[in-house]
Amino acid sequence: MVIDVKQALTEKKKSGPVKDKIIIETQKLNFYYVAGVPALKNIDINIPKKRVTAFIGPSGCGKSTLLRCFNRMNDLIPGSFLEGKILIEGEDIYKNGIRLERLRNKVGMVFQKSNPFPMSIWENVAFGPRVNGISNRTDLDEVVQSALNQADLWREVKDRLDDSALDLSGGQQQRLCIARALANKPNIILMDEPASALDPISTGKIEETIEEKESGISWSKRLSFGVGNLESTDFFFSINN
Ligand SMILES: Nc1ncnc2c1ncn2[C@@H]1O[C@H](COP(=O)(O)OP(=O)(O)O)[C@@H](O)[C@H]1O
Ligand SMILES: [Mg+2]
Repeated sequence: MVIDVKQALTEKKKSGPVKDKIIIETQKLNFYYVAGVPALKNIDINIPKKRVTAFIGPSGCGKSTLLRCFNRMNDLIPGSFLEGKILIEGEDIYKNGIRLERLRNKVGMVFQKSNPFPMSIWENVAFGPRVNGISNRTDLDEVVQSALNQADLWREVKDRLDDSALDLSGGQQQRLCIARALANKPNIILMDEPASALDPISTGKIEETIEEKESGISWSKRLSFGVGNLESTDFFFSINN
């Protein structure tokens, strides 16, 4: 697998110290599901902060594998292992002593197929903040409203927050999953083809949501995304086998 880093390097030269502009850096990254058969080979990339970044390439070339390395979701696959380094905000995320909950709060994920929890809309979005220790109802209400607003879903669900999330349409469920990720105030959101299972209107809404986040409308820290489509992408890496 080869990653074209030309655009990243152009961006890096523009201004300011390079390190300050990079949020994820990989160094000689190899990843194996099975020993001897690399799924990712020799990946050296710098992913800039505050940008929408997409990985493009044929099916099976390793896009999802690479995304899952960034929040250590691949750890769950028995027998898999990684060589090289991944630095996120300068920290080696595979070194001993890294707390995975903290990492996954910082590096949120939205999957190809929406996966709301079988609970109410409100409870889905409040889930992460509650686990992270927010218990005051007013504070939670604020977080829930803000995250739903940012995912462009608040208007549609504000009068039915206690309804089951499973009653929402597919597109709404995916925006709920985005809201659930945003509620943890991540610095990075990984999205693995988040709109591939949706109709064109829902896809458009998801793309608008990503663009709005990217322009930083209600964020003090703007976000970096890994996404699977080209619209709303500032910046992308192409991946070839
Ligand atoms: N859980 C897994 N166990 C073993 N091999 C896997 C697993 N997931 C993906 N692979 C293999 O790793 C390669 C890259 O897959 P993937 O990252 O899903 O590609 P993409 O997202 O670009 O379509 C493929 O050859 C795929 O079959
Ligand atoms: Mg994939």
